[in-house]
Amino acid sequence: MKVIGIETSCDETGVAIYDAEDGLVADLLYSQIDIHKRFGGVVPEMASRDHIRKTLPMISQALEIAGCTKDDIDAIAYTAGPGLVGALLVGASIAKSLAMAWQVPALGIHHMEAHLLAATMTPEPPQYPFVALLVSGGHTQLMECTAHSQYTLLGESVDDAAGEAFDKVAKMLGLGYPGGPEIARLAEQGDRKRFTFPRPMTNKPGLNFSFSGLKTYVLNTVNDIEAVSEQDIADIACAFQDAVVDTIRIKCGRALKQTGLNQLVIAGGVSANKQLREILNRENGFHLYYPAQSLCTDNGAMIAYAGYLRFIKGQADTLDINVRPRWPMNELEAM
Ligand SMILES: Nc1ncnc2c1ncn2[C@@H]1O[C@H](COP(=O)(O)OP(=O)(O)OP(=O)(O)O)[C@@H](O)[C@H]1O
Ligand SMILES: [Mg+2]
Repeated sequence: MKVIGIETSCDETGVAIYDAEDGLVADLLYSQIDIHKRFGGVVPEMASRDHIRKTLPMISQALEIAGCTKDDIDAIAYTAGPGLVGALLVGASIAKSLAMAWQVPALGIHHMEAHLLAATMTPEPPQYPFVALLVSGGHTQLMECTAHSQYTLLGESVDDAAGEAFDKVAKMLGLGYPGGPEIARLAEQGDRKRFTFPRPMTNKPGLNFSFSGLKTYVLNTVNDIEAVSEQDIADIACAFQDAVVDTIRIKCGRALKQTGLNQLVIAGGVSANKQLREILNRENGFHLYYPAQSLCTDNGAMIAYAGYLRFIKGQADTLDINVRPRWPMNELEAM
């Protein structure tokens, strides 16, 4: 079985083909960063228009790379939500039109479930049940995963997502977008002892996160320095990353204790963070799983794979074009 995956939920067009026997046989990614960076954030209408330009040529290219034709494709998976409504509609319209033309089933995939499942695309995946931390540009959620598609939300950010905080702090420090990799790079040259930033919501019980106050703390620190030097920026980046990573470590530890589970899966863009992986790996009492670096941020591969797991159970949508810009994971169709 070969499944095409189409990702268009935000500012990346991803197209991949997952083969039941050979795994990923094509995996293409195009980022719109150059289009949006001069506006300081994603412009939804421009994102939709660019997905229109890119998706079909990328599908042709993916077929070529995989050495197959449309006749070899058994099913089409696309991101149906959560995300930007216009961008999602582009992927959904293309997926459903191709499904009708090629006479194959199509299925709308939950973007965050796909992020999570990307961490299971390994020879030795975690076995259910486990605790998952989805930590990306738009989400920071701790889940108890008892089976595929059975998720209980344990805690989430009450304001900014962790990735969003990385991006906003990077902007404050005059760094590029996306901010996560930039902060991680500069933090390596920072003096860890110079600043200690707060670990939000860790001194009272609970599994929710908040990164908005930490962001303000960074801003105040920057404003207190007269002429900000490169070393100041590196020191602040280091203290900020330490605070986010430590907060996540504390909350994940609590979630594992509360559920009595001993496996932790981290996924989404921020799970690419080297320090986060190292610190969590050093903790005792649980096994840590994370996706390959290329599968942490948005990609078509995770959509193709998430689709494959549902198609083999016989799931498929009608040809109606429906997307869900907001879509709680506990509302997913059971397997
Ligand atoms: N090495 C890193 N360290 C920290 N953050 C990172 C790193 N690499 C990427 N990120 C962050 O990950 C985010 C992008 O991840 P992802 O593509 O999963 O998010 P998204 O698709 O925008 O949001 P969502 O998946 O919630 O809809 C950005 O905020 C980026 O700064
Ligand atoms: Mg994403």
